[in-house]
Amino acid sequence: MLMNIPKKLIVGNWKMNTTIAEGSVLFNNLRKDIGDLADCDIVLCPPATHLFSLHRELISNKTKTSFKLGVQNISEHEMGPYTGEISASMVKELVDYVIVGHSERRKYFNETDKTDSQKLGIAMRHGLRPILCVGETKQERGDGQAKQAVLDQLNTALRGVTEKELKDLAIAYEPVWAIGTGNFAKPAVVEEMIMLVRNTLAQTYGRIASTHVRVLYGGSVSAQNTKAYLNLQGVDGLFVGGASLNHNQFSAIVKAATSV
Ligand code: PGA
Repeated sequence: MLMNIPKKLIVGNWKMNTTIAEGSVLFNNLRKDIGDLADCDIVLCPPATHLFSLHRELISNKTKTSFKLGVQNISEHEMGPYTGEISASMVKELVDYVIVGHSERRKYFNETDKTDSQKLGIAMRHGLRPILCVGETKQERGDGQAKQAVLDQLNTALRGVTEKELKDLAIAYEPVWAIGTGNFAKPAVVEEMIMLVRNTLAQTYGRIASTHVRVLYGGSVSAQNTKAYLNLQGVDGLFVGGASLNHNQFSAIVKAATSV
């Protein structure tokens, strides 16, 4: 059977950190460290205020580059009276990717499986590639509900995603208890949960179509633990928060990913 082997995908989520000037310095340091062409796809998700200038820096370079930009969130609405929101059509000239359903959006901004599903639909309609985050809380894991929690998130979010759209989708398994805590998940846990995600995709869309989806791990990823995850079967990349703000750390992660 012919299987498609996608390049590894390394996502840097800067969250609400850096000024525009600091973001530019970080971006240029990364480009110096990594070079323009890496043997993996690199997606930087800075604050929305930085996208315009970083996009210009990328296109002014003219050479081919492995760096792409992503936005950390979009509205579930197309347009209208939603003060403070950013729509897919406003950012689609600047970015290729969009993060959907990050647990911080769920925790602080009341996002639900339903709004994530709407965001996924809007992103796809506008040609953006969603990175859908799923993962259980500490309590859900303690209660033996980790798998069910991830399945529920996945099944609701994927409603309406067609087989044809799968190639644009990435899914990040991010246990909430591992995000920003230093308490990264054991590789065996990651392997089990990523298998669950992969099997669910395969049941819904068929095994071959589901191989087009890149499945990532996120949660206290560092240069030290990168290889342990990328060597696992079924892991196609990493979703990096804190360590993406340090160019030495993030480039070490990218370099480790290219040598797996
Ligand atoms: P972290 O963040 O790498 O700091 O744990 C991950 C994330 O943004 O989800």
